[in-house]
Amino acid sequence: MSGDDPLNRVRAALAEGERAIAAAADASALAVVRSSLVGKTGTVTLLMDHLRSLSKEEKPRFGAEVNLVKRQIESLLAEREASVGKAAHVGPREDLTLPGIRPASGSLHPITRTIREVVRVFGTLGFEETDGPEIEDEFHNFVALNIPEHHPARDEADNFYVDARKLLLRSQTSTIQIRTMETRQPPLRVVATGRVYRPDTVDATHHYMFHQIEGLALDEGLSMADLKTTLLAFVRTLYGEDVNVRLRPSFFPFTEPSAEIDVEFPGRGFVEIGGCGMVDPAVLAACGVDATRWSGFAFGLGIERLAMRRFAIPDIRRLTENDVRFLKQVH
Ligand code: DAH
Repeated sequence: MSGDDPLNRVRAALAEGERAIAAAADASALAVVRSSLVGKTGTVTLLMDHLRSLSKEEKPRFGAEVNLVKRQIESLLAEREASVGKAAHVGPREDLTLPGIRPASGSLHPITRTIREVVRVFGTLGFEETDGPEIEDEFHNFVALNIPEHHPARDEADNFYVDARKLLLRSQTSTIQIRTMETRQPPLRVVATGRVYRPDTVDATHHYMFHQIEGLALDEGLSMADLKTTLLAFVRTLYGEDVNVRLRPSFFPFTEPSAEIDVEFPGRGFVEIGGCGMVDPAVLAACGVDATRWSGFAFGLGIERLAMRRFAIPDIRRLTENDVRFLKQVH
């Protein structure tokens, strides 16, 4: 076959194409090769142009040969493109044996933590946990607690009444005393925690919703000494052996005598944490408990007070804002 056999051009183009395709190391090099072969002015494309200058006799053989080479080149290109494309994904593999990155884990709210802790501590002192509804009737929130009809504590403006039947969001957890005595016989020791509601103006130390823990002990011969001993054991477990309890005479309709509970932090003064007293015989009577045989003490503590002291939280509003930056600091 002579040097100017047009088919030599075709074979040379195929050989050149094969070499160039095999040599293209990555997808972009291969894209350049593709256009140099089958692009507008590519070697194989130009062969087709060459067809026009051939004689009638030469055209069919040449044309058939060029088509064949073109298909071969196309399939070689496609093959190589697939393999360099895949190669792009072959890189350093993840080391699956390395420890993973842990997603941020949630934590318990400081109020929940405080509730769990105080319930646990009272548990060690023999108090069982109980609970009651947040929507209460007047009997449990007031009447049975010796708070008569025209007592200011029952004022519409001082409570969240929810309907004409005088249901209300409970204003104190002392309701639990009544609910317990209605369903259980002494001797008993219970605590209950939960939300209470009062239409107070919100500031750094007041909120319209907060939490209390209520305690009730009924037995034969219980006295203020038992009450104070219980409270002392409680605050010392919570805050340390160097704190003291001071009972400051006060008044609550459902206890007699009644006292405010102050915790004395050495060198830092007193902090009021709640109220307490000996259950008023009128309350025992309202619940059908024989006051000549049983006596009891009760107390109600503010959970927010305890939590704010424990976690050094300066403002009660932080507790309900759900600001993660705050919550992260106290968990
Ligand atoms: N219920 C009272 C309040 O919310 C707190 C309280 C005082 C509870 C004396 C008691 C108690 O059980 O004996 O202010």
